[in-house]
Amino acid sequence: AAVVSKGEHTTLTISVIMSIIAGLCTFTTLPKLKDTFIKANLSGRDLLKPSKPLLPETLGLPTAIIYLITLFLFIPFPFINWFEGAHVLGEILSAILAIQSMILLGFADDVLDVRWRYKVWFPAIAGIPLMIFYYTNKGVTYVVMPIQLRPYVGDLVDLGPLYYVYMAMLIIFCTHSINILAGINGIEAGQSLVIGLSVIANDLLYIFNNPDRSSVEAHLFSLYFIIPFVGVTSALLWHNWFPATLFVGDTYCYFAGMTLAVVGILGHFSKTLLLFFIPQIFNFLYSCPQLFRLVECPRHRMPRIDPDTGLLKCSTVRPNDKKPMGTLGNMALKLLRALGLLKVFQYDNDGRIIECNNLTLLNLVLAYLGPMSERNTTVAILIIQTIASLLAFFIRYKLVHLYKYV
Ligand code: UD1
Ligand code: MG
Repeated sequence: AAVVSKGEHTTLTISVIMSIIAGLCTFTTLPKLKDTFIKANLSGRDLLKPSKPLLPETLGLPTAIIYLITLFLFIPFPFINWFEGAHVLGEILSAILAIQSMILLGFADDVLDVRWRYKVWFPAIAGIPLMIFYYTNKGVTYVVMPIQLRPYVGDLVDLGPLYYVYMAMLIIFCTHSINILAGINGIEAGQSLVIGLSVIANDLLYIFNNPDRSSVEAHLFSLYFIIPFVGVTSALLWHNWFPATLFVGDTYCYFAGMTLAVVGILGHFSKTLLLFFIPQIFNFLYSCPQLFRLVECPRHRMPRIDPDTGLLKCSTVRPNDKKPMGTLGNMALKLLRALGLLKVFQYDNDGRIIECNNLTLLNLVLAYLGPMSERNTTVAILIIQTIASLLAFFIRYKLVHLYKYV
């Protein structure tokens, strides 16, 4: 138990107290800002309600600002000299810079509705300071190989510059994948909260089971960033939960994804982090035919509301009359159907699929379990997210012995 010094215990306690205050602050501030945001035209229609009320959007911005203020006020504590922790200021600052740049670019996207072909690169750009810090300080670019592969490639494989490509891709993935698992109340903040709590659990497991000092420091670092994140996210989720009184906006999705990616990279647990993102990975792969336009991709792929019952059903996609679906698109859909991952509503005379569910996890869940209320759909997704985390812990702490350690 001596791995965590007394000073570090105190620092962690301070972090928890500050995070609770940040959460309460977010909780009371957000409702007061609603009118201001609506007046500033930062608003959107809640499309899955019969009356489609106008709600303020981008409330992820004040949430992220309260988070940043909390971190700024917290920075001195790990450095007060009677604490023994040897934390690197550059590391903390590069992480904050990456998160802050992402918030800025996310806000730009909310206000200006940037095209996908440009915004897809935003996170990688915001992550550059972080990668430069990584390069000048740690520079570790090798990955440990599973035992089965070691006879062929050695124990460690140095990815060299490819490791930076991997980090950039991880950052891009984390930010956008949260943004596209969206469309019903509570889902963006809810998934981020479950992942955040999983990261905390993983950090604590490490800190209290690991005699290795450097990984303890890496996980303490992760906790300093994630505890306040969980604090402000809980408050945001409270207001965004069904029936939502506000929307989180792309600002929040980017902020959340970047914060998680940053701690995964600097805390050296990016592979474990990816296990927590299993639902997002599935949703991304499943979306690919639409994201890469093999299949028509409407502006909104969120589920549909049945006006008679008020329940949600999966939304469907039909090829555009001007642009019929290509052979590749049809093949992708047939593959998904063969895997039981597609609900087809209409075929044409040649047996080609002309109407099926939109390719998102939300619609898939509704295709099988629906119709469901909006609240229950959110709960179903969050249960899937929690199961994924449990699975991640199982893989990380049980199965890993099969392939990793000698
Ligand atoms: C992403 C998805 C899109 C989905 C949208 C929903 C992809 C490629 N893009 O787009 O399919 O429809 O998120 O957020 O998968 N809204 C609600 N209820 C909610 C949340 C959002 O009605 O609980 C609506 C509101 O009108 C809100 C809008 O969605 O204004 C926000 O959409 P936005 O975040 O701009 O969409 P994208 O992130 O571009
Ligand atoms: Mg969005």
